[in-house]
Amino acid sequence: MAEAAYSLNLKQAFQTHEGESETHIERLGQIFELIKRPAQQKTCNAILGIIEESKEVMKQFKGTDALDPGLIAGAQAVEHYEISRYGTMVTWANTLGLDDVAELLETTLDEEETTDELLSQIAETTVNAKAA
Ligand SMILES: [Fe+2]
Repeated sequence: MAEAAYSLNLKQAFQTHEGESETHIERLGQIFELIKRPAQQKTCNAILGIIEESKEVMKQFKGTDALDPGLIAGAQAVEHYEISRYGTMVTWANTLGLDDVAELLETTLDEEETTDELLSQIAETTVNAKAA
């Protein structure tokens, strides 16, 4: 999506969050160590569905000003999903009294929310008006 985006701000937002996502994976590793369970990779079909939608958007709107708003819509669907999941896990960690786990999850949740807000800002201040 970073490669496909036309707006430099949007490209940069995608690249920055890609780097953050690597840190999110590292934090999950730390969490599994804290709870003394093996970390296992699992495919998320919900996210795969959103990625498929975004691929269609990229194909359909390539070369038009509607591409960037479409990419943002897809990326925000991913962020909202992540916000939902991390929010749930923070609550569960707090319920279980796992303060250190909750703190790690909350740090990631904050970054997901910041990314979501940045994407809204890019949409509202530049790319949406251009597409309209
Ligand atoms: Fe994210």
